[in-house]
Amino acid sequence: CLALFLGLIFMVLFEIFRINSHRGQFPPGPRPLPFVGVLPQAIKKPMESLRSVSQYGEISTIYIGRKPAIILNTIQVTKEALVQEAFSGRPSLPLFEWITNGLGILMVTFGHSWRQQRRFALHTLRNFGLGKKSVEDRVLEESRYLIAEMLKEEGKPMDPQHDIQNAVSNIICSIVFGDRFDYDNKHFSYLLKILNEYSMLLGSVAGQIFNLVPFIKHFPGPHQKVMKNATELLGFIRDEVREHKETLDPDSPRDFIDAYLLEIEKQTSNEGSTFHEENMVMSTLDLFLAGTDTTTTTIRWGLLFLIQNPDVQEQCHEEIVRVLGYDRLPSMDDRDKLPYTYATVHEIQRCANIVPSGAVHETTQPTKLRGYDIPKGTMIMTNLEAIFSDKKHWKHPDAFNPENFLDENGNFFKPESFIAFSLGPRVCLGETLARTELFLYITSLLQRIQFSWPPEAQSIDMDGVMGLVRYPQNFSIICRSRDTKE
Ligand code: HEM
Repeated sequence: CLALFLGLIFMVLFEIFRINSHRGQFPPGPRPLPFVGVLPQAIKKPMESLRSVSQYGEISTIYIGRKPAIILNTIQVTKEALVQEAFSGRPSLPLFEWITNGLGILMVTFGHSWRQQRRFALHTLRNFGLGKKSVEDRVLEESRYLIAEMLKEEGKPMDPQHDIQNAVSNIICSIVFGDRFDYDNKHFSYLLKILNEYSMLLGSVAGQIFNLVPFIKHFPGPHQKVMKNATELLGFIRDEVREHKETLDPDSPRDFIDAYLLEIEKQTSNEGSTFHEENMVMSTLDLFLAGTDTTTTTIRWGLLFLIQNPDVQEQCHEEIVRVLGYDRLPSMDDRDKLPYTYATVHEIQRCANIVPSGAVHETTQPTKLRGYDIPKGTMIMTNLEAIFSDKKHWKHPDAFNPENFLDENGNFFKPESFIAFSLGPRVCLGETLARTELFLYITSLLQRIQFSWPPEAQSIDMDGVMGLVRYPQNFSIICRSRDTKE
């Protein structure tokens, strides 16, 4: 017993010595606890931790478990770092490795496979976005369904999560699977629930614990739920692939899966090809997940901000009706004519800040930043919480105010600090799609529906809940159809 106790003391002292000698080489940051680093604080109050870490300067260091992570706290240093390939890796986190086997796009480190899969997905998204039916047409068609669905509950308190998630997901589904799903489709509603749970769990405490002690995969616990959800989602994709194979017409690919099946065929004799069925399934899951969760969450935050700021909601509605009337749906070409609404969409993204510490990167080689030597394999995070509220760059950093994106003449402008989609080689692959969805959905909703709180009070913690992205807490709203004869 005494030997065990002395052993433990020795391990803790050794760990403190290791961290202290390490800390001298890295940018400053909060003092880490042995073995767990800043994780207890970061898990308990993630947004507060991010806000406080910027006090250490343009770059700082936190310890996630035993590993240092460099935090980029300003737009200047972020631009300097993220445009370089040296900063474009992804760490191999045990939880993601367990699920993805190193396949797909989102969680994969910088290299040949990531490059091939990313390039193919970008190209195919563009083709099926601009092909037979444009993304714009798909979103406008879907926004009609969404408005009708939300107004079915007119005047009654309703949680908008499912309707918005279904509408958003239908766009990526029509590009990837060639199909949209009705809002009352039970199987698809179930899959969306699983998808939501899956991304919550990926960023949860259970996920963090798994990354610290991955051998728990052999034991029961909440991490098994992540794997169960992933298996169900992958099962759905595999069924889609099977159906696609049976009906594939090589002369007329219908969607991402058809295009991928043809690419596998085309590349069979190419030794360096990373195109195979398991990579297709994992890339598809990445597109399905990233294409659903991010935009849905941003629009849900948007409803919260618009209800909390009814004057902004009214000003958008007036502008939309003045330019489009009630009958013509918006198009992307209307952005210039709707500067206040377009600014509001950006302000929603700034305040929603759904990826507040950026997607974690890793250095792919030894490199330098602001005089510090940064070893290969160091985690890199972008402090978007600090960048999106930097007093030097925003007129109203701490308030929801579309003027942050308007110049003195009321024209839209995008400050350089607005990097919600990140930048550099790893920049969001769905940026164009997401921008189209956000503008068209939010504008068409504000054209036809007035949003307000139900009479019974709700207390909402605006720091939200951390998963793979930052979600708002669940909330209910009241939708009322705008009187089109106003
Ligand atoms: C990556 C934001 C919508 C697909 C990312 C990253 C961010 C981001 C911050 C990480 C970039 C980095 O590593 O530095 C957003 C936001 C969205 C959105 C705010 C909507 C409001 C979408 C959509 C898709 C998508 C609609 C669907 C195609 C991806 C993929 C990656 C990614 C596949 C991984 C790229 C890579 O690692 O090379 N996104 N995203 N995103 N996003 Fe998005």
